[in-house]
Order: sequence, then structure tokens, then C-alpha cells
Amino acid sequence: GGAGGATQLTLGFKPVPKNTLDLVSVPEGYRVSVLHALGDPLHFTDPAWKGDGSESADSYNRRIGDGHDGMYYFGLSDDGKYQAERSDRGLLAVNHEYVVSPFVLHPNGKTAGTPRIAAEVEKEIYAHGVSVCEVKRGTSGNEMAMVRNSRYNRRVTSATEMVFGGPVKGSTLVRTKFSTDGQKTRGTNNNCANGYTPWGTYLTCEENFLNVISRANGDDAKRLDPKEVIALNRYGLKQNTLSRYAWDTAGPDDLFARWTSSVTGNSPQEDYRNTINTFGWVVEIDPFAPDSTPVKRTALGRFNHEGAWPAPAVAGQPIVIYSGDDARNEYIYKFVSKALWDAKDVNGGLAAGAKYLDEGTLFVAKFNADGTGQWLELTHNKNGLDASNTLYPFADQADVVTHCRLAADFLGATKMDRPEWGAVNPVNGEVYMTLTNNSNRIAATATPAPNTSQLKPDAANPRYYEDMKGTTSQKGNPNGHIIRWREAGNSGAATAFAWDIYLFGAQADAAADVNLSGLTNVNDFSSPDGLYFDKRGMLWIQTDDGAYTDVTNCMMLAAVPGKVGDGGKVTAAGGTATLKGASATAGTVRRFLVGPKDCEITGIAVTPDAKTLFFNVQHPGEDGSLATPSSAWPASQTDRAATARPRSATVVVTRTDGGVIGV
Ligand code: FEO
Ligand code: CA
Ligand code: CA
Ligand code: CA
Repeated sequence: GGAGGATQLTLGFKPVPKNTLDLVSVPEGYRVSVLHALGDPLHFTDPAWKGDGSESADSYNRRIGDGHDGMYYFGLSDDGKYQAERSDRGLLAVNHEYVVSPFVLHPNGKTAGTPRIAAEVEKEIYAHGVSVCEVKRGTSGNEMAMVRNSRYNRRVTSATEMVFGGPVKGSTLVRTKFSTDGQKTRGTNNNCANGYTPWGTYLTCEENFLNVISRANGDDAKRLDPKEVIALNRYGLKQNTLSRYAWDTAGPDDLFARWTSSVTGNSPQEDYRNTINTFGWVVEIDPFAPDSTPVKRTALGRFNHEGAWPAPAVAGQPIVIYSGDDARNEYIYKFVSKALWDAKDVNGGLAAGAKYLDEGTLFVAKFNADGTGQWLELTHNKNGLDASNTLYPFADQADVVTHCRLAADFLGATKMDRPEWGAVNPVNGEVYMTLTNNSNRIAATATPAPNTSQLKPDAANPRYYEDMKGTTSQKGNPNGHIIRWREAGNSGAATAFAWDIYLFGAQADAAADVNLSGLTNVNDFSSPDGLYFDKRGMLWIQTDDGAYTDVTNCMMLAAVPGKVGDGGKVTAAGGTATLKGASATAGTVRRFLVGPKDCEITGIAVTPDAKTLFFNVQHPGEDGSLATPSSAWPASQTDRAATARPRSATVVVTRTDGGVIGV
């Protein structure tokens, strides 16, 4: 059905039981195949992945990266253009978030300690980023395979040169030894979720960039302006920090030295003190122009940028993009373009990106207890966001978007339980966002511990409970929830909205004041993360769980949601009443698949005809090691006795009868 007259969708598959097998389990009548996995060569110039870590660092510029995460399928026309409705041939852009299990990548596992080995770090730098590859249906039903050697096949890595667009382009905040005028930078990093544009480009988003950025002891005192220290601390990079991956310790070469955001020279143009300001952005890549230079679209703000989800484009209306800042007690944002959508810009590439994404208004969300909400404007010289601000003096719009967490703090936006993916319902325009979990929520009656960011529950983040699991007890909101809102007048540019909570994660046997959506064995889940509406309005929910993995591996569910206001209020443990959608039933939410051991299920794309579904398995076997592996997936999918190293991969799901998925 089309807009306004959607056919009623019905979930039509047999739910997959929870399990801890080292397999992808799908419903009867469905099959899976692996499209590509860590290390697969994109071209014929490199040999197949051997599984012993012997591949050169340089070859990862032409191999599939690690840590598959968000992705998008772009239909590809015979003349090389974006053809949104094409289902049998396309370009698949996939994020490679990080080297989750470095033991898989190196010959003998990751060498312990610092300084890091240069060859290992170089390989890790090239294994991050994004891959683009052509995909095509062949002779086997609606399955798809990668077209090796396609002219579109491409890697973008943590070393790829890119330019800035928007308010930060040329700003003093991003001037470095590499780009003394602040026009360009290198690399995209920790690309978690994603988005796409109606003109046919990919948006990749930089989330946990602190994983690779160090800062020296004594750096605070070297900063020219004390406000720099306020900003660095707010973004979580205190002085005397060695990053998790310690790339900066691998040697004096610029490839490594730039991974410390420390003052070492006399000016920003002599060092890499501003490295941190070059990450946390939305990066636009044109998959149809493999030689094009990616652009960091700074108007959309800088934070632990999970993803960038567009509302459907409407002629004559602005482009609207929703984002979440995935950290405990952080915010939900929206960008509204200045330019109004003109369908002539389809296939306009990065020039269209400049038109719609470099100028516009950034907002942050405030959720009120009565089910209303406001979008608060983050514009310089408005709402007190100016040079006289006592929390942080904002010099200009570049300063506001680079430090939008501080601007949102000042405006009193609502601190959320870790915003992950968002998705816009094509049936009615309502927006959904997962709030994966939050260990920093405390009981409504408790007192926050000094010098912590502990918060009491509020209406939009209403749960505090203890999830007892044998020897471990996870407190706060360990199972997460999914919030949704409807813009006033169904207009993406509105500054007011109505909201409720769609679903609360919980295990089926949890107490009724925890299992608030009445989940049962066919649909119970924890820690929702990936979220995607396909074109029919079927909602796909993926999990990245830290609380329920003793019972089941991570999973993906299919859902047919209602609308904001479907349910009444509920009272969570601790007495907080909140607005809740209708309870889940087997008819409205149902488990579609379960992944292999220790993985996260993330990233999803469905072809327009809904006959091919792609999803990603990230870091199978991450709790194991070379000596004591916990997973051999994907080799274990077909050989249960396999001993191969586990690999992140993109999986293709089809129906054996060639039918439409999910119904
Ligand atoms: Fe990379 Fe927020 O998940
Ligand atoms: Ca995520
Ligand atoms: Ca997550
Ligand atoms: Ca993960």
C-alpha cells in the first residue's frame, strides 16, 4: 500500500526460539548465506582471506573491514545511477565500526602492551571505516552475491582523506598540522550506525572515537584557552589518557602520531591537539562516484554519533534527519535543512549534499512528563548560546555544533538511556528510537553519588531495577526501551511533538513491573540497538545485549507497530508513571532470528521488493581468544566442528520459495 492507504501487514513466520548455538537461526522456510566477511578481497588483485592473519596491512585498503555495523542498499541502474526501486542489483555500503577482536586480525593475535607494533596498528587503521561493493542476484533465488572487481567496490578507512562541509569547514577548531586551514582531515572512525539521503548518498556516523585518541599528562596547562579543557572534559577525553587501542604509541610517523589530541607544538597548525574535533561527525559518501572525496557534514553536530536517519523527503519541505548520541545520559537531536527538497536533485551526489546538509538548524529533544515534547534550537546567539554563556562561551556556530553537548546541557534537554538507532515509520511519519540501556539510572529514592552522572528515572527513561543473574546483578535500566514521537502537524520542521514508549525490553519471566510490555518467549529481548522500517512499514529490531546473553545470543525481531498514544500509563518499579504504547503480542512483535555466540546483530537493509534482507553479525566470538576460541562463525554455519577464526560478516536472508520476507 502507499502513503495513507497502507495494507495491513501481518507477521507470518514461525518465531525462532532463544538459543546460544554458534549459528544464525532463521525461521523454517528461510535460508542464509554470507555475502562478505572480514578480510574478503573486493578485487581480484588480492588473494582470498587465509584465516591466519597473514594478510598485509595495505591489502585492507582493498579488503572488507572488521566489525560490520550499519549499512544501506542503493538500487543501481544499468547506466550507473541511483535507482531506488531496483531490487536485483545494487551497491551495499557497510560500516566497519572497529577492530573488535584484534586476535582475529593478526598472525599471533594482538601483541600485548605498549608501544604497539606499527604493522598491527597500520592494519587496524585500514580495517576501520566503510566498504562499498556491488551486489547482484544470480541464479539462486533472490540470494545476492558480491560482484568482485566491480568499479564501485571501494574502501574508506581511518586514513582516507576527506573534507569538511558546513559551519566547521575552515574553523580554527579543526586546524591541524595536516590541514593548516581546517579544510580537510583524514579518516572516518568507529562508524556505528548510518543513514542515507534521498539523492542517493550514504551517511556514516562516528561514534566511539575516544577508542583511538589519547591525550598526554599535563596537557590541560598547555591549552591556550581554558574553555578548551571544559570541552575536552565534557567529551570525555581527560588529560593523561591512553586510548584503548593506543595507536599513537606505534611510532613517530604521522600515520600514528595524529592519534593523540595533545599540544606538542606552538600552534594548532604544528600539532594534532585538534584531532578530537575532527571526529564525531556524520560523513557523506557518494557510492556511485568511487573516486569522490567523503565530506564531514558538520551542521548535524558532533557527539557519539550513532546514526543519521532521514524522514521521507517531501517536495517543497526541508530535509529532516534524526540522530542519537550513544552515551549514558546523552541526547536526541534533529537537523532541519534550510534548502527545500526538489526531486531533481536525485543523483546530485555530494553537490546535493552541500545544498541540503551544510546549512540548516540543529535541535535537541526535551521530553515532558505529560507526553509532549519540544525541539530546542542550537543556534549561535539564540537561547543564550553566545560568548557570554557561563557554562561554555560559544564563539560562533562552528563552536556550537562542535560542542553541541554543552549547548544541549545549557538548554536543559532530556538525558536519555543511551540513544542508539532511529527509524521513521513510512506509514505515518512517526519516529522511533532505541534507548539501549543505562547503568547510570538510580532508584527514584536514591541520592546520586558525588562526582558521577547518576540520574533518577524520569518519564521518558522511567525504569530503575536490579536484574539478578546468578553471580551478576545489573542495575539501572539493563534491558532498555524504544521511544517514539509524532511531530506536531506531522511536519518534520515542527518544534513540538507528542511521544510515548513503544516497547520495554525485558526477559519473559521478569516481574510484571519490569516486563511492562508483557513480552513472552516468542518476543522477549534485551538492549534494543539496530532499528529499521522497511518500505512496507515492518519494523525490525536488533539487539546488542549485555544482560540476557546467559539465556540467548543477540537477535532480530520483526514488528508491526501501532501509533503514538495506543496505550495508557504504566507504573514502573519505584513508582514512576509513564506513557506507554499497547502491549506486545505474538501478533505484533516476533523473533525472526538469533545470531551466533558473543555477537551483536546490527545493520539491516531490505530490498524494495522485500525478497532479500541483509543483516550484519558483529564480533562473533568476542569473548574468546586465539587460544580459547568461543566461536568459529561463519565457518560453523555449515560445519559445526569448524575451528576457523570468527569473523564479522554481512548475511543475506531469503525465503526458499522466493517469497516476500516476514509475512
Ligand atoms: Fe556502536 Fe551505539 O553502538
Ligand atoms: Ca549501535
Ligand atoms: Ca550497542
Ligand atoms: Ca558491538
